[in-house]
Amino acid sequence: MANVVIIGMQWGDEGKGKVVDLVGPAFDVVARYQGGHNAGHTVRFGDEHFSLHLIPSGILRPGVQCVLGNGMVIDPDAFFRELRQLESSGVSAEGRLLISNRAHVVLPSAVALDQARESARGDAKIGTTSRGIGPTYEAKVSRVGLRIYDLGAPHLEERLRFLLGRADAELRSLGHEGPEGPNRVADLCRSWWQELRPYVQDTELRLNQWLDEGKSVLFEGAQGTLLDVDHGTYPYVTSSNSTAGGAAIGSGVPPTALDGAMGVLKAYTTRVGSGPFATEISGETEAFLRERGNEFGTTTGRPRRCGWLDLVACRYARRVNGIDAIALTKLDVLDQLPEIPVCVGYRLRGTLYREYGTVFEAGEGFQPEYRIFKGWQQDTSGILTYEDLPAPARDYIDFLEQELSTPIAMVSTGPRREETIVRDLPILRELMGGQLPTVPAA
Ligand code: GDP
Ligand code: IMO
Ligand code: MG
Repeated sequence: MANVVIIGMQWGDEGKGKVVDLVGPAFDVVARYQGGHNAGHTVRFGDEHFSLHLIPSGILRPGVQCVLGNGMVIDPDAFFRELRQLESSGVSAEGRLLISNRAHVVLPSAVALDQARESARGDAKIGTTSRGIGPTYEAKVSRVGLRIYDLGAPHLEERLRFLLGRADAELRSLGHEGPEGPNRVADLCRSWWQELRPYVQDTELRLNQWLDEGKSVLFEGAQGTLLDVDHGTYPYVTSSNSTAGGAAIGSGVPPTALDGAMGVLKAYTTRVGSGPFATEISGETEAFLRERGNEFGTTTGRPRRCGWLDLVACRYARRVNGIDAIALTKLDVLDQLPEIPVCVGYRLRGTLYREYGTVFEAGEGFQPEYRIFKGWQQDTSGILTYEDLPAPARDYIDFLEQELSTPIAMVSTGPRREETIVRDLPILRELMGGQLPTVPAA
């Protein structure tokens, strides 16, 4: 059996939730390894519609074990909210949901800091999701953070005194009220602990035991390659390693246990929040993509910025993640366009660059160079076989495969599980332990 990472190849919201849900049944375990409820992963089938933020999308597949790994930051209130929503929709997580005792806790003070720092940055704001993600990771790296394990430990108050003392000083210096005191926050933490306890485990040990038993694990990446704190468009990034390497660190399995990576690539590009975006467009065509693609944040509802596919950035994503196969999503959104530009290189002082590097992170001084594809101007929604796609759509896909030297193993032609083309490629079978994902009838 293979252990595979699913990674967003752009700035998030590529459709990872849909892809994880589709391939999920081929795996015994689905694990998140970084991020928190800044993520919003949508899964749709039939008339059902789920938005998952903390809980792995695999939870919607009966029998699949789900893990919130040590690399995550968890707001317990958000966790319980999500769990109850799932339960009220008839999804039981009973006995198949584990939280790492090493994951870090997002406290209300981290949310206050996130918001205060953003307003202090003014025009240079990152456009975070305001979920307290950055301050929680910062506390972790500063070695003053609070782990899930600490919620029920005797040293809780002492930890909180230090952590909240720092938050208090910073919030006040930025002109805001300080956080609640350590005693009140300790009460909150203890009540969280009582409720969380049944889910908390040494997930590193559990995952490695499962691997020893020959079980297969799917790692569900959140955010995307270009939001990775090391490899993304710094400082306009999230605060964790969302790229494939993060899966080992954020779960405790050895890097050698990972057999492959599947990249999720939207047929155009979106970004929510600030920062460079070389192929961003504006005006009517952007509005068209946003409307047709329903490009509004799953977590915050913010309109997403839209633009064309950027092959320089995609090649980079392929490289840093070691992408073996691609799931191309939202092809149907391009259906009506007469022309579809794709950025093939960046032109800087007369030279055409095909490979990404930090020199381009400032987002200025270079021009994206486009190849213009003829649109197919036919409805592709719900098409289930590659051969049934209009010829110009196949040309577009073939070109992407060639330019990225990576097979496109799945093509999504609508938001629902039922609207997916699965190609019978050896690499897809290999990643899925010999089988192919089953697409249910519409
Ligand atoms: P994630 O964060 O990568 O899981 O992606 P999101 O769920 O935030 O955003 C993807 C959005 O596109 C969701 O609303 C999905 O329901 C929708 N979606 C996914 N695949 C397709 C597709 O092939 N076509 C269309 N029209 N919508 C899609
Ligand atoms: P999924 O998993 C898209 C963006 C925010 C902001 C930056 C930092 O659904 O693809 P943060 O709150 O993490 O400190 O914000 O990262 N961002 C996302 N954008 N999809 C996401 O998750 C995101 N998670 C964070 O908009 O620009
Ligand atoms: Mg999302």
